[in-house]
Amino acid sequence: MPDWTYELPPIPAQPRRVLLFIAMESEAAPIAHALRLEHGKGRIGQTEIELLSPGRDDATKIDRIGPVYAAWALTRAIAAQRPDLVVNMGTAGGFAAQGLGIADLVLARDTMFHDARVALPGFDAVARAHTRLSPSDAQLDALAAAIDARVGLASSGSSLDATDGEMALFARTRTLAKDMELAALASVCAAERLPLVSLKGVTDLVDHAHAGGEPAHEAFVRNLERTCARLAEAAPALLAKLC
Ligand code: ADE
Repeated sequence: MPDWTYELPPIPAQPRRVLLFIAMESEAAPIAHALRLEHGKGRIGQTEIELLSPGRDDATKIDRIGPVYAAWALTRAIAAQRPDLVVNMGTAGGFAAQGLGIADLVLARDTMFHDARVALPGFDAVARAHTRLSPSDAQLDALAAAIDARVGLASSGSSLDATDGEMALFARTRTLAKDMELAALASVCAAERLPLVSLKGVTDLVDHAHAGGEPAHEAFVRNLERTCARLAEAAPALLAKLC
């Protein structure tokens, strides 16, 4: 029995239309520049690339981070644009215990909501939404090799920090990275039967922060530009491989 509940379809050999979901403007700008997107649109060979960000909310003028806005924006964009592949790029906390350092890259093999705690049989699995992305390890390994990324579990929650219980779960599941959007995107893709590829760049070390080191929010701000530059450097190679 695999330990995930859902599995997304294989990555297509030649996608016609790719939606590129990036949550924050500061993450999206260098990647859009590296991919030569104009007004959020571009092309690689025969493949159309369209940038998708949830934007800023009216009340705070702050980027709409988190799982709710990710699912909202992706659902709307799928209905309007009928992509045949969704790609997600963005930042994440990484785990030094798994050998990760600042600005390292993680290509997600699977994802789940690490903060979903529902002690009801069946509902626990739905809430956790543990989803395998590409069913093919060979496909993921080939993509990761092209951009020098690690392949593994990138899990999601609504918080930048982590509880003691979540830390135990991360250790048990050998989580490589944690973000705030991927599991929501994967749940939408599972419902829509769409393939999804996700690349995360590490801005902070979750286990260091939890052990009293630099807090996640401080490391995030300090390393954001460097990590986004690393993601932007990898973006053309990743998309060339996919398209
Ligand atoms: N994005 C960047 N760092 C993160 C962290 N530690 N947790 C969740 N999302 C993040």
